[in-house]
Amino acid sequence: MEIKNIVVIGAGLMGMGVVQVSLQKGYKVTVVDIKDEFIDRGVSGLKKGLDRLEQKGRLGEGVTTASILEKMSTTTDLAAAVKDADLILEAVIENMKIKQDVFKTCADNAPDHCIIATNTSSMSVTEIANASGKADKCVGIHFFNPVPLMRLVEIIKGDGTSDETMDIAVAWAEGLPCRGKRYCPRVLKDRPGFIANRMIAPGFVLMNWAFDEAVAKGVTWEELEADTVKETSPMGFLELGDYVGHDTYYHINNYYAKTLSPDFTPGKAYTEMYETKKLGRKVGQGFFDWTQGRPKIDRSKKAGIVTAEQLDAIEANEGCRLLEEGVVKNWQVIDDTMMAGFNRPGVMELATQNYEKWSTLLAELVAKIGKDYIKPCEFLKSGKFVGMK
Ligand code: CAA
Ligand code: NAD
Repeated sequence: MEIKNIVVIGAGLMGMGVVQVSLQKGYKVTVVDIKDEFIDRGVSGLKKGLDRLEQKGRLGEGVTTASILEKMSTTTDLAAAVKDADLILEAVIENMKIKQDVFKTCADNAPDHCIIATNTSSMSVTEIANASGKADKCVGIHFFNPVPLMRLVEIIKGDGTSDETMDIAVAWAEGLPCRGKRYCPRVLKDRPGFIANRMIAPGFVLMNWAFDEAVAKGVTWEELEADTVKETSPMGFLELGDYVGHDTYYHINNYYAKTLSPDFTPGKAYTEMYETKKLGRKVGQGFFDWTQGRPKIDRSKKAGIVTAEQLDAIEANEGCRLLEEGVVKNWQVIDDTMMAGFNRPGVMELATQNYEKWSTLLAELVAKIGKDYIKPCEFLKSGKFVGMK
């Protein structure tokens, strides 16, 4: 099947990233949002980004912002937008009901051959797809932020997704430009958070406790950030949250609270961040101030509330759970996924040397913060995962 016409729904952070790389690849792209003002905001950001690339001579011989944008159109009429679509990528907010409604409208109005994909960060692809009545054509295509730079795109098979749909999704994602070569692992089990987000998910169980501790002790966010950063991380836990958006992470954690464990329920301080709309980079303020661009964070003074090693141990434990659940078959895929999605090494290789120490560390942490979800699992305690490379 030849893909020519792409429709991207949601002109936000992720949607516009996918619009950019699809246009750069030469596809015709239609952008859909619910209000013209949201479309205007997204398109204006896209233009600025393309102009910067054009000035640096990065768009290619004879290619300009104007020539790229000729292939883009915009609308608020979803049903009309998908009439000639070959592939639709939904990147609206992380809300099951809204995504299901969007999928239903797409399935009712798009041609039969059209692939309908969700960029959900965490939620069940199967549940979203089932609302469409065409589950075989539906798939998860999960991009990472910023889309033009991050190599990872997870391709998630819902229960009804056909093999053909998986193949088309992988081929399309692999062909989209980015810095380096795209890495598009097939996620074989539709479990919350898939691979990369699931790995960092239980870090929130610890950090939700830590955010409240920091407030109680009068510690600054900068000092807490310093606790979480390693030499190899481009961003610590708090900056990454600001970068992604706390509305997205708030919704994701509530979803995990329902599907994985109540221990994911956002704490007092984090809920306040969300309710007071300190959503991060996209609004200029999160834990840090982004109004002048990327914040300069002093990582030299630590709060002493958590350690980067605790976060590593929690992550390794989750990697073992992914192996236990059959989401992946070996831990090398996990480490490769983490490098492609977060620009930092995964912890599984390190875990092969440290699993006994980390199992003890996690048991002590559970005793301290009272969150059972981070108890060491069987594969970590026994080291059974070590041979599953
Ligand atoms: N689009 C296009 N180009 C961009 C860009 C963007 N959004 N942001 C930066 N660039 C370009 C810059 O213009 C610059 O170009 P030049 O080399 O020509 O100057 C280049 O990329 C590097 O820019 P910076 O120096 O500003 O970037 P950096 O070296 O500080 O790295 C970063 C920026 C890549 C974002 C890095 O900080 C990083 O890897 N952070 C971690 C990001 C991450 O973990 N993302 C995943 C989030 S989780 C997720 O997405 C999944 C989910 O479901 C929530
Ligand atoms: P965003 O808030 O920046 O953008 C969402 C856009 O969707 C908004 O412009 C909104 O107006 C629009 N929208 C809402 N309802 C709509 C509807 N019914 N029809 C059309 N448009 C609608 O959000 P985002 O950060 O781009 O996230 C979008 C999706 O991608 C979410 O599912 C999120 O979990 C996922 N995701 C986010 C990141 C990230 O780093 N932010 C990374 C990977 C995946």
